[in-house]
Amino acid sequence: MNQQQTLEPLSPDVINKIEHLLSELTLDEKLSMLHGDNVYDTKGVKRLGIPPFHFSDGPMGVRGEFDRQTCSYTFNTDDFATSFPCITALAATWDPQLAYETGNTLGREVRGRGKDVSLSPGINIQRSPLCGRNFEYMSEDPHLISKMCVPFIEGIQKNDVSACIKHFVANNQETRRMDVNVEIDERALHELYLPGFQAAIQEGHCMAVMGAYNQFRGEFCCQNTALMQDLLRSTWGFNGMVISDWGAVHDTKKALDAGIHFEMNVNNQYDDYYYANPLKERILSGEIKEDTIDDLIRRILEMMFRLKMMDPVHRSSGAYNTPENRKSVYQTARDSIVLLKNEKHLLPLAKDPHRTIAVIGENANRLHAFSGGSSEVRALYEITPLLGLKMYLGGNYQVNYAKGYSSDKEENQTRLFEEAIYLAKHSDLVLYVGGLNHDFDMESADRTDLKLPFEQDKLIPALLHANPNTVIINMSGSPVEMRNWVDQAHTLVQYWYSGTEGGTALAEMLFGDVNPSGKLPVTFPKALEDTPTVRFGEFPGDDTVHYREGIYVGYRYYDTFNVEPEFCFGHGLSYTDFSYHDLRINVSENDPSGPIVNVTFSLTNTGSVAGAEVAQLYVSDSECTVERPKKELKQFAKIFLQPGETKEISMQLSKEAFCFYSVPDSDWKLESGDFLVQIGSSSRDLRLMQHITL
Ligand code: BGC
Repeated sequence: MNQQQTLEPLSPDVINKIEHLLSELTLDEKLSMLHGDNVYDTKGVKRLGIPPFHFSDGPMGVRGEFDRQTCSYTFNTDDFATSFPCITALAATWDPQLAYETGNTLGREVRGRGKDVSLSPGINIQRSPLCGRNFEYMSEDPHLISKMCVPFIEGIQKNDVSACIKHFVANNQETRRMDVNVEIDERALHELYLPGFQAAIQEGHCMAVMGAYNQFRGEFCCQNTALMQDLLRSTWGFNGMVISDWGAVHDTKKALDAGIHFEMNVNNQYDDYYYANPLKERILSGEIKEDTIDDLIRRILEMMFRLKMMDPVHRSSGAYNTPENRKSVYQTARDSIVLLKNEKHLLPLAKDPHRTIAVIGENANRLHAFSGGSSEVRALYEITPLLGLKMYLGGNYQVNYAKGYSSDKEENQTRLFEEAIYLAKHSDLVLYVGGLNHDFDMESADRTDLKLPFEQDKLIPALLHANPNTVIINMSGSPVEMRNWVDQAHTLVQYWYSGTEGGTALAEMLFGDVNPSGKLPVTFPKALEDTPTVRFGEFPGDDTVHYREGIYVGYRYYDTFNVEPEFCFGHGLSYTDFSYHDLRINVSENDPSGPIVNVTFSLTNTGSVAGAEVAQLYVSDSECTVERPKKELKQFAKIFLQPGETKEISMQLSKEAFCFYSVPDSDWKLESGDFLVQIGSSSRDLRLMQHITL
């Protein structure tokens, strides 16, 4: 297929400069540009004014600096940075404009720290709630991923730095991530695992792609020509750069054939990298032509011009740790909090200095930013929930803290448990902040079950029993099992790893200065047994993992197979209420590109406070020659309304919204007939619906 290239053509003048530089470079100099010469840097060619490339993780802020010899942190004081809410939190805002602003802030920090590429965002599908890196990924749904990652990338790249989507492709587990072979059927691949990457490249014009560690259909991703050449370049038109994951190259020739531009790794034997001496030897022996690497160098130089790397006068200089950046991550944290339950309207809390408040749980008083693996950030500061509450309330309130449980095995859990129950009994209000931490939501390992660690399943019901005014705040980057206590818990909040200003946002939300507007970007199942990979197998599989659940991932599975989740995809409450009304659908079949469906409806804030609602539109195909999920998200909009205000919302659906991927046709297919369009507040709270015929 002849695809338009995803990045703009360069001017003839720039192309001439590139050709000139290329002609000046020696073989050794060229090779030094193709591989790591420190954990996150390549080597420049000073003599010709070619700078090194500086990469940095991503996606939760700019990572600390590494020492070239030891490959470990330098721990200097100049690399403290703003810590961002995890990428799942960003997705939970369901707000593309906010995604743009968050990306723009990240880009500023990246450039401010002198980096060229942010190794973010992570956009792999959250296939199983057990994946250790779910907190670095957005969602179980490809539409939500696409709509959020595109503006995030645009925001980053506005700062003369490149984003780098990862991990391409099918890096959906950490168990044996370095070599597991992933087998996915063609339809699930196209309907679930590719759309986010395709949107990032074609709509977001993402300049870099990171090849995953795992194997895909029998070959390592960073050596997989079907993936990196046929799909990425020929079919999608990608003309940016491909960076290997750190240590994901295993063969010089194969990586070159796949068109990997940079071989990165985490050891200081830089001359032994596949793209260093081993490549040199093969070029000198004539086995590999020097032309092959010339093409890679050309692309690298192109990127340098696109990012103005040789023009510091005109390049954005960025800025890190600024008040503006801190405000931006506060806004992201604020809009990501999901109110799961508020049955007694205990929230928002009344400000009453006569009431004593017990804050319980290790996560209320724990720093998370500098943990979890490569996305860890040396936060300039991190406002914990406990600090946030105390800063918010000031000195006239009695806020007492008890740990309740400890992640440290040495600590006496019984004593912590008893202290917490005693405090709960003798307080007017309990705010429990538990959940997971980055020993669970982490790189390089998956969880083995969904249960809360450290006996929280015993502690939470005991607290609810000890004090009926208890708010449960679950802090995690992925779903946890809640069935042991969820019926008792009338007030429940999902709070993610929320970065520098997280605790501020949480306190303001609890006391009603902020009206919660986050929605779950992933289903919270009742139990592990209910998840599709358990029902169909396999997670994490063996040497090979077969994605036997096919297209039935997340709500596509729960809805189609009538499995009731604890909290469904798209769920999230507000301190106000919204009514949906006046649905009108108009189908126009005159467009040559296929039918256009115009959907209009009205949304009213029927409560007494201002708030934002995420209206979600799902499409169902009533009858089809292939199996289809019960419903699929095809549009959404976040709308802010004053009390009593009504807005009319218009959404347009093109042909693609009704298509499935047809394997025999190797293409998307629309089967005419009856479709159901449903609109509502979550995937299971659908307020408006209408059948249409296409
Ligand atoms: C991770 C990447 C990360 C890289 C560099 C790898 O282990 O999988 O996501 O960008 O390290 O830190």
